[in-house]
Amino acid sequence: MSDVLELERADTATLTFTPAHPTIGAEVSGIDLSKALSDEARDQIKAALLKYKVLFFRDQTVDRRQHLDFAKRFGSIYTPPYTADRLIDVDGESGVHLISADPQQREFFESEKRPGEIYDGYHTDTNWRIVPSWGSVLRAVDLPPTGGDTIWVDAEQVYNDLPQDVKDRFEGLHSIVDFRSSLKRAGHGDYPLVAHPIVRTHRETGKKILWVDFGKHPEIVGLDKDENREVLQLILDRYRKPEYQVRFAWKPGSIAFWDNRAAVHRAVRDYGDYPRALERVLIDDEDLWRSL
Ligand code: SIN
Repeated sequence: MSDVLELERADTATLTFTPAHPTIGAEVSGIDLSKALSDEARDQIKAALLKYKVLFFRDQTVDRRQHLDFAKRFGSIYTPPYTADRLIDVDGESGVHLISADPQQREFFESEKRPGEIYDGYHTDTNWRIVPSWGSVLRAVDLPPTGGDTIWVDAEQVYNDLPQDVKDRFEGLHSIVDFRSSLKRAGHGDYPLVAHPIVRTHRETGKKILWVDFGKHPEIVGLDKDENREVLQLILDRYRKPEYQVRFAWKPGSIAFWDNRAAVHRAVRDYGDYPRALERVLIDDEDLWRSL
């Protein structure tokens, strides 16, 4: 028997998924992510991700190379146009980047808020692109003694629970995702402003989600100011309901892997000035409109 077959047996035999919430999130056990992932384990993890929307791994000893290699098993890697200090080189390869809330970053986010705007941190990653990255793999690096959890919202369940007349009203509406000032900071001042449908259909499951980014100046195209406020507030109120949320308390060795097409998420900034740091790898979606 080849080593590969033994590996395939070893890394899937004990793979278990324990739900962390009735509809979103599961903790995965029985796998060592520092090891090469067999096709069988990858397929099980992918199937579980489509089902649970976010997966949590504990007690992993994974370095940057292993983090990147794990993510690469699920698609090609996208390197966001962040400032150079956030991009981490791994043996000449890009893809790992720093997620941290240093004072400069905080100041920038504060300065980004616009008076009277409905603001919150709920978002999906790289949704300022026409085809955003579908997957995110986030690894704990330097954690505050307490706090700094991350919340994921089951945006599919939020959509499912809307009354039918509200679903009908939302169908076809688009929300602006304005990331221009961050892009400008990183040297991309001419990137176009993108608006996405607020009812998004997941390309693999076919399920619909309610999809708005409350940190990037959302504005529903074609609605007047009052209607905009009403619609955005309604959606934000749903996102904020604990019934739709799963909350993950990071610990050393924790990794989260989520599907941006099914959930929105936000970090909980309750840890003062602590330089909380995590590293993330983004997995790209297929380029739907390449030939247009
Ligand atoms: C992210 O938005 O991708 C990172 C979330 C976090 O910092 O907890």
